Amino acid sequence: MELNGKNILISGANRGIGLALAKKAASSMMNVHLLCRTRDPGVEAELKKLGASLVKSWSLDLSDPKNIEAFAAEFEKSDFTCDVLVNNAGQLTGGLVEEQDIQKVYQMFQVNLVGLIDLTKRMLPGMLKLPEAKVVNNASVSGLMYLPCASTYAASKAGVIAFTESLRNELEGTSVSTLTMITPGVKTRMYDEIPDLYSGHLDLKFLSSIPADEWVEEVFRCMKKDIAVCWPSGQSFLGVKLGQHFPGLLSRMVRPYFKR
Ligand SMILES: NC(=O)c1ccc[n+]([C@@H]2O[C@H](COP(=O)([O-])OP(=O)(O)OC[C@H]3O[C@@H](n4cnc5c(N)ncnc54)[C@H](OP(=O)(O)O)[C@@H]3O)[C@@H](O)[C@H]2O)c1
Repeated sequence: MELNGKNILISGANRGIGLALAKKAASSMMNVHLLCRTRDPGVEAELKKLGASLVKSWSLDLSDPKNIEAFAAEFEKSDFTCDVLVNNAGQLTGGLVEEQDIQKVYQMFQVNLVGLIDLTKRMLPGMLKLPEAKVVNNASVSGLMYLPCASTYAASKAGVIAFTESLRNELEGTSVSTLTMITPGVKTRMYDEIPDLYSGHLDLKFLSSIPADEWVEEVFRCMKKDIAVCWPSGQSFLGVKLGQHFPGLLSRMVRPYFKR
């Protein structure tokens, strides 16, 4: 897909992977739309400097279905097209399932999965009228590797993968394509929250991360080449493939690191 001059909408673009995606989009001469719950006024100027001819902030709280509806209505009234929708915003939950705060679990599912589906559903009719458009969904290696302490988060990300792959089949023959991001450990605020949530029961020695810009380079390569799934490399790739094809072996390898 040719990206230059196109509109890209990124949820959770104020920090972490979302901000790195916005920077890459700006330097790829795209028009960048920041869909954020928390606005950072410094970001717009930074993105303009990087080459974006247009940077626009929109308010979006994915935990509130009414807010998603209001955003979609406001966007529809504007003259903008949604050429690329990146569903990136997300929350992390973790720990033994019986110890998790169920309100946080409800909210995480709403943001990571139900809100993502809602926003996609609302943007798709406009996207289907365009000659070319793409839905990019930020899933996780956790959506394919079912580690202890990650149960609820992993379930949301497995849902994102299932939704996106099913949508890909549904959109076959239309102008809209999809990209599933099987995101590995990336050094962001969410990554730094993992020890607090998991380390009481899981030895995190095996955890590793890459910088956000490195992962975003790979995501943009996949977008440009219309590749449907963006896989991580190295140890994360091996872990994901074990999880997919040899889950019993992965469980046995992880068992020594877990203690109830
Ligand atoms: N970092 C990793 O290792 C890793 C690995 C696999 C997948 N991922 C996925 O990558 C995505 C980005 O995560 P990150 O690592 O960049 O984490 P992050 O730095 O914690 O960023 C999370 C983003 O999501 C936004 N967000 C959270 N709740 C929201 C809500 N109710 N409405 C709108 N936006 C909301 C946050 O906005 P606020 O600033 O307003 O909170 C923030 O912009 C997530 O979907 C995550 O699951 C991350």
